[in-house]
Parts: sequence; C-alpha cells; structure tokens
Amino acid sequence: MRGRIPDNFIDELLTRVDIVDVIERRVPLKKAGREWTACCPFHNERSPSFYVSPAKQFFHCFGCGAHGSAIKFLMDYDRLEFPDAIEELAQSVGMKVPYEGGRDDKPREDRSDLYTLLDEATSFYQRELGQSDEAKAYVDKRGLDEETLKRFRIGWAPAGFDGVLKALGTTDNRRKLLNDAGMVASNERGNRYDRFRERVMFPILDRRGRVIAFGGRVLSSDQGPKYLNSPETPLFHKGRELFALWQVKQANQTVSRIMVVEGYMDVIALHQAGLPIAVATLGTATTPDHAEVLFRAAPDVYFCFDGDRAGRQAAWRAVESILPRMRDGRQAHFLFLPDGEDPDTLVRKEGKEGFEKRMKESMPLSEYFFEEMARDVDTTRLDGRARLAERARPLIAKLPDGAFRDLMADELKRRTGAGATFEPEAAPTRPARPAQGGPQRSLVRSAITLLLAQPALALELEPPYPFLRLDRPGVNLLAELIDVIRSRPDIRPAVLVEYFLDRPEYASLQKLMQAEVIGEADMQREEFMGALAGMYRQAVTERRKDLSARIGSLDDTEKAELRVLLADHAAQGKAPAE
Ligand code: UTP
Ligand code: MN
Repeated sequence: MRGRIPDNFIDELLTRVDIVDVIERRVPLKKAGREWTACCPFHNERSPSFYVSPAKQFFHCFGCGAHGSAIKFLMDYDRLEFPDAIEELAQSVGMKVPYEGGRDDKPREDRSDLYTLLDEATSFYQRELGQSDEAKAYVDKRGLDEETLKRFRIGWAPAGFDGVLKALGTTDNRRKLLNDAGMVASNERGNRYDRFRERVMFPILDRRGRVIAFGGRVLSSDQGPKYLNSPETPLFHKGRELFALWQVKQANQTVSRIMVVEGYMDVIALHQAGLPIAVATLGTATTPDHAEVLFRAAPDVYFCFDGDRAGRQAAWRAVESILPRMRDGRQAHFLFLPDGEDPDTLVRKEGKEGFEKRMKESMPLSEYFFEEMARDVDTTRLDGRARLAERARPLIAKLPDGAFRDLMADELKRRTGAGATFEPEAAPTRPARPAQGGPQRSLVRSAITLLLAQPALALELEPPYPFLRLDRPGVNLLAELIDVIRSRPDIRPAVLVEYFLDRPEYASLQKLMQAEVIGEADMQREEFMGALAGMYRQAVTERRKDLSARIGSLDDTEKAELRVLLADHAAQGKAPAE
C-alpha cells in the first residue's frame, strides 16, 4: 500500500499545475477570449463545446457535462487511478508526492530504472518473436492476429541461457536491476541465467501501462510448467495486479462491466473477439484487493469459471473475497462454463454474441450464494434450515452496511424463518418497528446528497458539528465533506468528490452526487438543516435510552447528563424519531 496523500499536498499541487498545460499536451486547444476551447475528448462532436478555464482551473463540456480539475482530466483522459493521476501531475511540475503512513514509501527513483529495463525486455521479446518461425507458428496456431500481438506486446523468449542477460545486462547495475525485476534465476552454484527461455511472453502491465512482470508459456507441455510467472518483486504483487486491466481501460471510454477469467489466453481471445472487458488474476484466487480494484474499475463484475469442481471451489473463494466489498451499486455475477471449455475455446466457437448470451444468463451473487449455502442441506427440515442460517449469517455479516445486506438478510429469513441479527441494536428486546439503521442511515444519506447538490450549504455551518454525536456510518464522511467545502468555498461537487477518490466511500459519493435532488434551493436548505438536526436528535435519544437502561450503575456525571436529557425530552414532548 502506498500511504495516504495529504490533502494540503493536493491543494498545493493544484495551485502549481496549470490545467491549460495539462490538457494542451493531450488535446490541442484554441484560445477563445479568456478561455480555451476544443472539441470535447469525452464525446463525439464536430463543433467545440469543451472549455478550459485558466482562471477557475477547470474544464467543462457544455455538450456532455464532463467537468473537473486537472486531476479529474488525467483520470478520465489517461484513465489513471486517483493516486496515479496525482503522481503524474506532481512529476510534471517537479514535485514529489509525500505519502503518509504507507508501507512502501521507498525511494521511488530506484524504480524508474526497473520500469525502463522491463520495457526494454518487452521490446527485446517482441523483436525475437518476429525472428522465430517456431514462435510465430505457435501464435498463429492460437489464432492471434497482428493487432492483438501489438496490443498485448506479446513476444518470445529465445532458447539459450543468457539472451536477456546479454542483450540488456550490459553493466553491473543493469544486471542487478534485471535480478531485482525477477528476470534472472540462479542455480545452486550461483550461476545466473535468464528465468524465461523458449516461452511465449505476455507482459503484465500496471494501471499506468508500464510493464511490471511477465507470464511465459511453453510451446508444448513436455517443457516444464505450462506457464511461468515473474516472482513477486518490488513492482509486482500478484494479489493486487490484474492482467489486461490496462488494455480494458484503453479500449473503453467508460468501463461498465468487467469479466474475470482464469488465463492469459482467455483474456486475449475475448479482447480479440470484440469483448475488451476481460482481465485475469495471475495464477492466484481473487483476493479482496483484486475485488476492490475490479469494482473501482466497473460497477458490474462477472466472474467466469470452469463448471467443474475446481471451478466451483475457485468461485466460492472469489465470493468470500468480494463479500466485504459489495457496497450498494456494485454487482457481481457468476458464469460457469460447460465441461472441457474455457473462454478462449468457447468464444472462438460461439463468437462474441454467444458469449454475451452466457453473460446475460449468468447468476447474480445472491442466487449463487444461496445455491452454494443450501448445497447438501435439506431445507424442508427444521434442522436443515437452522444449519443454513448458521452457515449464512456470518457471511452476510461480512457485507457492508446497505440495502444489499438488508436484502440478503431478508432472503435468509425467508428461506429459513430465522432472522439474521448483525448489530446489537437490532436485538429482539425492542418492539417491532423499522430496522435500526434504516431511518438514521437515510438521514445521513440525504444530508450528503443535498450537500453534494449544493456544497455552499456547508458554509452556514461551523465546528463543532452537533450531528457528529450520532455514531453511524457516513456521519464522519459528512463532516469531512463539510470541512473540505469550508476550506475551498467555491468547490464544485465533482471536484469535491474527487477528494475522496482513494477512499472506499468514493463509489457511494459518486452515486449520491448523481442522485436527482428535487425542489428549490431554499427547500433543499431546509431539508439539509432538518436532516442534521434529526441526526442530532437521534443521537440524543439513543444516549438517553442508553443511560436510562443503565440507571442503576451511572456515575455522577452520567446522572447529571441524564437529568438534562430527560428534562429536554419532557419539554419537547415526544421526539418524532421515536
Ligand atoms: P490453464 O491450465 O487453464 O491454461 O491455466 P489456459 O489459460 O487454458 O492456457 P492455454 O489455453 O493452455 O494456453 C490457467 C491460468 O493459470 C495460470 C496461468 O495464469 C494460466 O493462464 N497457470 C497455469 C500458471 O500460472 N502456471 C501453470 O503452470 C499453469
Ligand atoms: Mn486455454
């Protein structure tokens, strides 16, 4: 993990960068009065409605509504993740990003040499492919066309023990770097030689399109393990990287769905067949890190597995990894292939349409979850249902708070008759009424939605914020949003949300930002203030109940607090939140 990028660095960076420079380097701009204009790079148009304002340091398209700062532009245009966009901008103005509290704040200078060398290695393999009849025959037999070879920078590691070492290891330092990059292996006697020999080479790119590792395939199965991957290196962590994610982002203006398959050739065949939405984990199961990367890339993630036992097992491991990442707005789908087929063979037989059809017929997570849970359980019997409830409860509890978890809990209840309790507040000592978390959560949610629609609302507030007394998900986020706005009073909603790009709440914020807010500004203001007041009231009510329940064991301060709370309560009559 890189550490967190401090907010004040981002502010500083945005004051040093000129958005006109940043965009001009990628899209030719024309001067138009005080602003600059171009045909919008984010949608097709013939006359320019894309404007860049040097004064306000943002871009805006009157045609498609694209809008944002230099950071947002780089993210959308270069398809960078938030921290990478920051890196790129910082480099362009000679600043160094100060990470806070990350595990690898290691000197980043060391790494640029590694990237360069791996890029050279890739070019070397590509040239070798052109010169090997045997390798060319193989990729031809696998049906790879020229464009695919280029797009994936596929190459050939020649026979011999020192092809790469000789070509690239021209100095001691470069040999050391080759070693660090995982390109070199050594035997018991300490002799060094090329790790990859006589293999078709698939470069693995990071999210900025830089080569960080390789996978290499033998031509025939009697030549050792079918695929050999680079070992873990400072640049390459299997559990985080996805093969072809970069190509997916390159090929799609917006990525609405992404599909995880098992192998390199599966990914490549799907891209070539017109489905540039496939990625692969690299010889490992899907990790929670993968899950996060996947859902940040697209709201709909498809997992594709063999229909056999091993495939089912792998699918279940994926389920366990993604459960904690299933925030509202994200959807997972499971697709099982017929025996003996993989996506490569199948898409060649059935084409893009056939594969699309399989995707349409795939199982949503909820369905797959309950199907697996109910396996070898007899749900017509009471003890069977109890067993199902027992199995499913801890897993459903892993889901983040939200509508999806509520639905899964309801479904479990429907199937077993047993309620799923996840929070102490939901204990059955209370009279039946809407689930705890329901009304309060929507207060927080509606406050955030209104604030995103009208950031200036925050300017009427001042810390300490009374609503912070409510201990619920989203409350702190709301306070942070207010703080950001107070520090940059004319901030636009899109830029505001950007501040939270490397945070798990980002997807929800984006959704809330796009939510339709009705009514006049005045009404919105009233609703916003009402929500904040409601949150505070709720917190007070809870505190009063908590203190009342422990009335026998309160200390003096708590007793005094309770007296005040009870007096307020009596004065107000019954609070509407009850
Ligand atoms: P498969 O054995 O299913 O091969 O491995 P494949 O993808 O169908 O490959 P082709 O079509 O025979 O070329 C699936 C994935 O598992 C990893 C690789 O990432 C591979 O793409 N793997 C497999 C290894 O890492 N090492 C191996 O020896 C085999
Ligand atoms: Mn295959």
